[in-house]
Amino acid sequence: MSRRLCVIPGDGIGREVVPVAVEVLQRLLPDLQVEEAEAGWDCFQRHGTSVPDATYASLRACGAGLFGAVASPSHKVDGYRSAILSLRQTLALNLNLRPVCSRPVVSPRAGIDLLVLRENSEGLYSGREHWEAEGIAIAERVISRAACERLAAGAAELARLRHARRVTLVHKANVLPLTCGLFRDTCRDLLAEDGWSDVLDERLVDVAALQLVEHPEAFDLIVTTNLFGDILSDLASHWGGGLGLAPSLNLGTGIALAEPVHGSAPDIAGFGRANPLAAILSAGMLLRHYWQLPELADRIDGAVDAFLQEEGSVDFGNKTTRVIGRGVLERLSQTSSH
Ligand code: NAI
Ligand code: MG
Repeated sequence: MSRRLCVIPGDGIGREVVPVAVEVLQRLLPDLQVEEAEAGWDCFQRHGTSVPDATYASLRACGAGLFGAVASPSHKVDGYRSAILSLRQTLALNLNLRPVCSRPVVSPRAGIDLLVLRENSEGLYSGREHWEAEGIAIAERVISRAACERLAAGAAELARLRHARRVTLVHKANVLPLTCGLFRDTCRDLLAEDGWSDVLDERLVDVAALQLVEHPEAFDLIVTTNLFGDILSDLASHWGGGLGLAPSLNLGTGIALAEPVHGSAPDIAGFGRANPLAAILSAGMLLRHYWQLPELADRIDGAVDAFLQEEGSVDFGNKTTRVIGRGVLERLSQTSSH
């Protein structure tokens, strides 16, 4: 059975980095059937929706997707909702995996290999915001036992996969005893039942942020709610070489959408300067976690590290996207006989 991929470049540098990542996947999966779909701010302006029905249909049919980035205005626009948030919620992509590991040359420190597992469907991203009165705006933070159970089940699976030496629940239950308490207790109970008590610990989110700066190598699997995971994963991405190298995977049941952590980067869009490694490494996460082809994912990791080792300190200016893409493809070819 041939594999299918729905490609959603989106806005800004999404359109520059996604084609490079697709080329890498096609090199490893020559039979891959690729179909392109629209989403994002530009799409909203042309069609009046940020995610057309055809995009949902294509993603559902393919099962696997690769998303670039979308631009979102930071003020309210009637009828507009962020495309990636709609995709995550509508397609029940309930988990978001954001790995960070030390990379040759570009990482400020060696020995870091951690994964932020972020709840992806609710929390402060539930979209429940309203004016209570003039001058008082309310955002509701939704935490459900069902979502925490899904998260904990995903955490147990990932802990097994990476032979986790530590699983850290990150919350703020001292200030938010109901919502964060439900998250903490549900995850703790399920992970304990699954045999992870010995390596399970917890941190308040502010302390976790400090410790991610001071001792990032002490973390392994971090499990947390939606907004905390968003913030902590950007912070941690510094250790992996920054946003240009930070991959992620949105994961549901029988469906996955790979997505670099970065946004549409309007400051560099259109100049060919965007680093495509975050998108390439995200594509690798589809191989590892969706198509269950870890040896091919390892080849992408190996090609990226080999490229960085040899050329990671060079500034390619307006040729960055092209040179890095070509460099990774060349190194993939060199390992094709293994
Ligand atoms: P951003 O991630 O787009 O950019 C932050 C900084 O990192 C910029 O200086 C940018 O040039 C740099 N950068 C990001 N990716 C890079 C890459 N691959 N290579 C080299 N440099 C890179 O975040 P920002 O500026 O806060 O947001 C811009 C737009 O993107 C906003 O409209 C925001 O809503 C949207 N956004 C979308 C996301 C998504 O689609 N998942 C995630 C984050 C932001
Ligand atoms: Mg973010």
